[in-house]
Amino acid sequence: MTSHVDKANPPPARDNFNTARTEETTNTWLTPLALIQALGPFDLDPCCPPVMPWRTAAEMHHFPDMGCGLSREWSGRVFLNPPYGEHTFRWMRKFAEHKHGIALIFARTDTKGFHDHVFSSARAIYFLKGRVKFHREDGSCPKNGPAAPSCLVAHTEEDVASILASGIAGSLVRPS
Ligand SMILES: C[S@@+](CC[C@H](N)C(=O)[O-])C[C@H]1O[C@@H](n2cnc3c(N)ncnc32)[C@H](O)[C@@H]1O
Repeated sequence: MTSHVDKANPPPARDNFNTARTEETTNTWLTPLALIQALGPFDLDPCCPPVMPWRTAAEMHHFPDMGCGLSREWSGRVFLNPPYGEHTFRWMRKFAEHKHGIALIFARTDTKGFHDHVFSSARAIYFLKGRVKFHREDGSCPKNGPAAPSCLVAHTEEDVASILASGIAGSLVRPS
């Protein structure tokens, strides 16, 4: 049996960015270089793909070649754009313990993970104006933007100051 595709009215292109997560969907959405440069420098990015087109930190932990970046010891100022989906808040829990650095995550403020591992401990959350244009591993950008807004999370005043000095458009909220 062949599936019928209406050529005059094709389904929207799927890019794994706004679609339901499956074994085939990717966790690799790269931070734009301009954002890294505005917020950096960073000592460590604990979760990077095996190859990526630009540097995010002095030390980049490449997965899976170097093993799990969540189980290793983190040192210095960390940039964290963690794997998406169910694992995000395990990384945010470790980030809250480490404190030094900046995390970039979806601003899914209604989730338990966001309440337990961001609102409960962050010094400040910076809600970005406009959607971040994440990149694929080859540096290209999907046609459609991400499904959710993004925010930066900081646990130290030094990192809050660097966000405010970055020139990145957004609004700072200090959880009470
Ligand atoms: C959202 S991407 C961020 C990539 C890069 N850090 C950046 O900001 O552009 C998350 C990355 O985490 C990697 N990753 C997934 N599980 C990991 C693990 N257990 N340890 C380290 N990295 C992991 C994926 O390969 C993916 O490249």
